[in-house]
Amino acid sequence: MQRGLHFPAHVDWFRKHFVLKGAEEMLFQLQSLPCDMDLPVPSSMLSAVGNGQEDSSLLHRAYEPNPQHVHWMVGRWHYLDHYKSAYRTDEGQPWVLPVVKKVEQKIANDTSLNHEYLPILGLPEFRANASRIALGEDSCAIKENRVGGVQCLGGTGALRIGAEFLRRWYNGNNNTTTPVYISSPSWENHNSVFVNAGFKDIRAYRYWDAAKRGLDLEGLLEDMESAPEFSIFILHACAHNPTGTDPTLEQWKQIAAVMKRRFLFPFFDSAYQGFASGCLDRDAWAVRYFVSEGFELFCAQSFSKNFGLYNERVGNLSVVGKDTDNVQRVLSQMEKIVRTIWSNPPSQGARIVATTLTCPQLFAEWKDNVKTMADRVLLMRSELRARLQALGTPGTWNHITEQIGMFSFTGLNPKQVEYMIKEKHIYLMASGRINMCGLTTKNLDYVASSIHEAVTKFQ
Ligand SMILES: Cc1ncc(COP(=O)(O)O)c(C=O)c1O
Repeated sequence: MQRGLHFPAHVDWFRKHFVLKGAEEMLFQLQSLPCDMDLPVPSSMLSAVGNGQEDSSLLHRAYEPNPQHVHWMVGRWHYLDHYKSAYRTDEGQPWVLPVVKKVEQKIANDTSLNHEYLPILGLPEFRANASRIALGEDSCAIKENRVGGVQCLGGTGALRIGAEFLRRWYNGNNNTTTPVYISSPSWENHNSVFVNAGFKDIRAYRYWDAAKRGLDLEGLLEDMESAPEFSIFILHACAHNPTGTDPTLEQWKQIAAVMKRRFLFPFFDSAYQGFASGCLDRDAWAVRYFVSEGFELFCAQSFSKNFGLYNERVGNLSVVGKDTDNVQRVLSQMEKIVRTIWSNPPSQGARIVATTLTCPQLFAEWKDNVKTMADRVLLMRSELRARLQALGTPGTWNHITEQIGMFSFTGLNPKQVEYMIKEKHIYLMASGRINMCGLTTKNLDYVASSIHEAVTKFQ
């Protein structure tokens, strides 16, 4: 321990540097200590800061950056490699959508554009058209002028702004006790986003039935039935992350019926529209159904995946209210929230999306590009399943093709996962979740035979 300063100097120093109310108590305690006592000198003013890095994953610990290895999966913490919840081509490369390249050129050549601030709520044509693709051309809510959009920093930003608004204004003022229900399991950030917005009662609703390797509809509906009225439910619009398991249309109807009867608020997270089935309309079916059933709802849209605009941070929070006046009031509060967080959103990504969505030819090209990505994932699913079945790998593998979107819960248990990582150098989550984009025509055989070995050795 270094010899510290004598107290009077210490106290003066504190006075100078912490002109804060809370420091008074500290000063009182310091002054009441003997003057000749030695104190440790902190090596840094920030020395009390803990390490925020999560370190619980098998993948993280086992990861060795060897180019020979099959990097099959991205973990959320595994940000040093290139598979972080992002699309990859069959060559394992990131993909700039051709339509995006074209629109970027168009924007670069447009001399009328400048770098003035956008309005606080964002680029109007982006907001309107983003909401239009979520809710559909024929949306009764759009026709009745009771939809508003808030341009946000990605889907995460849309969730965060929505959560902040709900804490401030939903179910009373600043009601931090409204229960927020998140599927078990879910995208890991959902919990933190709502906690950081101030919600204190975050609960899990049943979703994944591990034995069945499918949706636990009964558990989900029971949890909705027993939830307090006005609870908030985060629903994955499509391509549920991490299970890849979505309710069927019939099941969505059942979910909507219970939520309506029990006065539960639907907050959709739509991070993969088009990416799941290859069809924008099909992937938005649940959101549109809820709107047609008269729900007021939020829908956080991300354009990170379906436009490949990950680092441009493009998102939209669609707000569907009961009438125009209601939505305008909500937007006026959203404006106040945004002003203190990022003040004005960035323009490039929003311009790319707006230009694409407003030009019929570019729109058609984009839909085609999205389908290319979705089809590659669907192909990898069917190829993997076919290989496992051909090898006679114990168990059933139909869930691989029944699941949808970027992620799949393989059903591999922790021992099997450990074997895959340590012996086969195939990196996947301890939960058995994989990113289908890590599969390519070149590594399919190796991956399938490795799963076969893992499952055969550790039943
Ligand atoms: C379910 C889900 N919601 C939201 C997001 C966040 O998307 P963005 O990168 O646009 O913030 C992701 C990203 O992986 C996600 O999987």
